[in-house]
Amino acid sequence: MKEIITISGKPATSFIPTGEYKIWEQKALRALDLLASGKGRGSDFLGWLDLPSGTSEELTERIKDIGNDWQKDIELVVVIGIGGSYLGAKAVIEALSHSFTSLMPAAGPRIVFAGQNISEDYLAELEDLMKIRSVACVVISKSGTTTEPAIAFRLVQKHILSQYGKEEAKRRIVAVTDRSRGALRNMADRSGYRSFIIPDNVGGRFSVFTPVGLLPIALAGIDIEDLIAGALYMENVTAEKTEENPAVQYAAWRNALYSKGKKTELLVNYHPKLHYLTEWWKQLFGESEGKEHKGIFPAGVDFTTDLHSMGQYIQDGERHLFETVISVASANRSLTIPSDQEDADGLNYLAGKHIDQCNKMAELGTCLAHTDGGVPNLRIEIPSLSTYSLGALLYFFEKACGISGYILGVNPFDQEGVEAYKKNMFALLDKPGFEIQGEILRKRL
Ligand code: PA5
Repeated sequence: MKEIITISGKPATSFIPTGEYKIWEQKALRALDLLASGKGRGSDFLGWLDLPSGTSEELTERIKDIGNDWQKDIELVVVIGIGGSYLGAKAVIEALSHSFTSLMPAAGPRIVFAGQNISEDYLAELEDLMKIRSVACVVISKSGTTTEPAIAFRLVQKHILSQYGKEEAKRRIVAVTDRSRGALRNMADRSGYRSFIIPDNVGGRFSVFTPVGLLPIALAGIDIEDLIAGALYMENVTAEKTEENPAVQYAAWRNALYSKGKKTELLVNYHPKLHYLTEWWKQLFGESEGKEHKGIFPAGVDFTTDLHSMGQYIQDGERHLFETVISVASANRSLTIPSDQEDADGLNYLAGKHIDQCNKMAELGTCLAHTDGGVPNLRIEIPSLSTYSLGALLYFFEKACGISGYILGVNPFDQEGVEAYKKNMFALLDKPGFEIQGEILRKRL
């Protein structure tokens, strides 16, 4: 079978000699062993490792049933969640949907997201939209207590209850949350909402192959079985304890570069549809590795767009960067540049060429220019932006992240640091139990 993901560190070899890379490769293989043994740090949260092979038909059928039910009369699905309870679904839906989906004729309900911010304007505008659409809601929170989605859900639930009544709300609201804990679990059980369980041993940023990701993705009309099939392929490929394992290679390269002072990794895409994949990837690596005052800072750029804004810095600014380019081998659509008799724009030298060919030359030219400028490049190639490739890519990054975190020597599966802002926010909002802290903080403002 043709490989779905290939890694090339060729453009980085002038920064990391082969002998040195081999040392990191060995470290990555040892980290893979540790991950597979289940004896490393954070091993209570390794449930994501075999999600693709463990997904039951019963689960995918239950998910599809919700879609079939809502197909009849629902125009708008509000998907509520933040962080790991938001980004996976958003990334996949953006990557696989028409670029102008909201302006194209609707084939099913439109998906919008909420609960990923606390903007009054955003939520008031969501209310404007809900007033003119038939609404359903998927509310996702593992803890069931996160403030941002809780605020959004309070508003959306109120709208649904007042518009359609309690009985109909049972059909229009679905909760994805913990098996037994948290306010959302209690609310779902008490109100009779349909619900899905997020497994205890899967953390938010590794949950895209649970109902957290699968339900919204299916509601957007995407074939979740194909997505899981791609992930399953990658589950098998990345279990191999060999130097050909792409997750081992990527983890080895990025840690080798980090050891050379390349402390910021830019994930580069050449397709606007991949913008949110980068956002998902940033959370995956940032929240997994940014610990104990260590970790590569994950950032992202959308090329060629950002070559006209960030290109100068990348080419010539401080040399603490490396780039990882997601290269998509073939476009899904076919479009060539037309010829023009007058050639007033001087573009006839491109006439007849595919747009993607121009994109590819921009990609290759940029890789060489940035490498020459002191920015090592890694390249991850996928055949196309298909559901299967995307499933493989997501799983690949998850596996590489686990390996990479173990090479770095941190626990890649906790996120204690996220709590600090929450405590301060609760104190400043006078949440019961946080009064004293609130007084202390207010004096500092
Ligand atoms: O990766 C994580 O654990 C976080 O990003 C969470 O997903 C995020 O904070 C949302 O948490 P919850 O699903 O409990 O509402």
